[in-house]
Amino acid sequence: SHNIYITRHGQSEYNAAGKLGGNPPLTEAGQEYARRLAKFAEENICKDDRGETRKARLWTSSLQRTILTAEHIQHPFVDDGWQQMSTRVYRNLDEIFAGEYEGLTYAEIEKLHGDEASLRKMDKIGYRYPRGESYFDIIARLDPLVQELESYEEAVLVVSHQAVLRVLYSYLVGNDRELAPKQEIPLHTVVKLSYDAYHDGACTETRFYLGP
Ligand code: G3H
Repeated sequence: SHNIYITRHGQSEYNAAGKLGGNPPLTEAGQEYARRLAKFAEENICKDDRGETRKARLWTSSLQRTILTAEHIQHPFVDDGWQQMSTRVYRNLDEIFAGEYEGLTYAEIEKLHGDEASLRKMDKIGYRYPRGESYFDIIARLDPLVQELESYEEAVLVVSHQAVLRVLYSYLVGNDRELAPKQEIPLHTVVKLSYDAYHDGACTETRFYLGP
């Protein structure tokens, strides 16, 4: 069987302030999640059912909140021949780009650009932020990554962001993509997706809330 683990970054300064986008660092709680995630990875992702160490892959986005969330995760990750722990940093895993609305809160968007806020409500998957992205744009930029993800034999831990993981999760479990923009992907939770080749690639899901 093949396991894919997905998690959002630990709580960021912008999460705490309710702001969109940016490249903020983690809060105290987010840093604590980073430490707990490292322990979880060591005990679960990097060990097989018999407790033997096994290799895995680690992917983050290019934003510091995912890189900081993964920073305590120990070896051994897959050796791709150029470094022991192959953390791959992908811009394709970056959060939905809110363009001109980066750094605003939803309340500010509502107040300053009410017409845009209602357009988004009517068509959340198709709505594109001014000079920014839509959920359809996320679907398009995840496409090449999904192909790579599915080709691996080792477990992969993907540390990314809410909107991106909504899309990735929905694809991996086979949900209708129209549901993706509202899919719940909570903070401080690892979602484990296991594929069983003997059951037609059927996927089982386990969620681990690590707090705090
Ligand atoms: O910061 C962006 C959020 O993760 C995306 O959430 O698509 O529900 O606005 P939303």
